[in-house]
Amino acid sequence: MNNRVAEILGIEKPILQGPMSWITNAEFVAAVSNAGGLGILGPNAGQTTITTSPEETAERMRREIRKTKELTDKPFGTTLITDADMKFTWPILEVVIEEGVQVILLNGVEGTLTEKIITPLKEAGIKIVYRPLTPTIEDAKSAQAMGVDVYVATGFDEGGTLPTSIIGTFTITPIIVDVLDIPVIAAGGIGDARGVASAFELGAEGVFLGSRFIPTVENPAAQSVKQRIVDSSAADLLLYRTLPAYYRSLPTPFAEKLVAMDNQGASREEIARVGGSSSVIRIGMLEGIGEGGIITVGTGITPITKIQTVQEVVDELAAGIK
Ligand SMILES: Cc1cc2nc3c(=O)[nH]c(=O)nc-3n(C[C@H](O)[C@H](O)[C@H](O)COP(=O)(O)O)c2cc1C
Repeated sequence: MNNRVAEILGIEKPILQGPMSWITNAEFVAAVSNAGGLGILGPNAGQTTITTSPEETAERMRREIRKTKELTDKPFGTTLITDADMKFTWPILEVVIEEGVQVILLNGVEGTLTEKIITPLKEAGIKIVYRPLTPTIEDAKSAQAMGVDVYVATGFDEGGTLPTSIIGTFTITPIIVDVLDIPVIAAGGIGDARGVASAFELGAEGVFLGSRFIPTVENPAAQSVKQRIVDSSAADLLLYRTLPAYYRSLPTPFAEKLVAMDNQGASREEIARVGGSSSVIRIGMLEGIGEGGIITVGTGITPITKIQTVQEVVDELAAGIK
């Protein structure tokens, strides 16, 4: 297969597993990479407790990176978030360079991607997959000019923190493909080989999936959550306003409370104050507790009919690669 994403990242199949806060770990990420895709360690990878210390966060990531290296000799990635204060960014950047991680998934909040962060990664020979919260033509052109290797165009169909503009994956992918020379990867709502084939038809050269990988044997999410995803469809998903824009969740008592706040006219800030911390994913998805937790997934869950191994999922998706 002649595919630029696979070539750049040194992988067999241009299928990337998106980082998911609390529900990635070394075993899961290594399984994706061993299956020929690219596994990516997300925020709080392998953890069950919170730390607010940037140094401790980076050291925890170092331990998980080392575990992953023991489980695969294939490339894998780590998430690096560029945000307003960059407090966590620099210590993690140091660790990924020291540990020789091959790929960085740079997660950008608007206007925070700068050469200051790109340069050390480039100098270390690390490939940069850039995924802004909200893809736009201007952002894509500027990221390309700064030297990112691959751009991920995420549509509103995704799970997790939703883009601020309500544009679906089918719409945003060709918009971005048309303005870039570097390869574009499509993210959001891809659930099976037909979704993969459609992304390629729209000009994407790779796919990026989160939700599809949750109901797998290797994913650390609670068994009850995996089964809920198998038993649910896109039509079951709730959507509510919060910061920075929207979130969706399968119904849980806590998600219903946030929807009720939204319906009663609470502000985004008020809703985020109640439900905006990352622990709502830990409680809802890692621990499987609906009181205080959410189950955020994308609209691509409908075709998922059983819990499978990562290898089975990657093989099924790969059938759609063009
Ligand atoms: C439970 C969950 C948590 C997520 N957490 C993060 C995160 O911490 N950082 C990030 O960049 N993306 C996060 N994402 C987004 C994924 O990396 C990916 O972009 C998304 O899952 C793609 O859409 P899909 O779920 O429809 O496949 C999360 C997604 C889910 C489902």
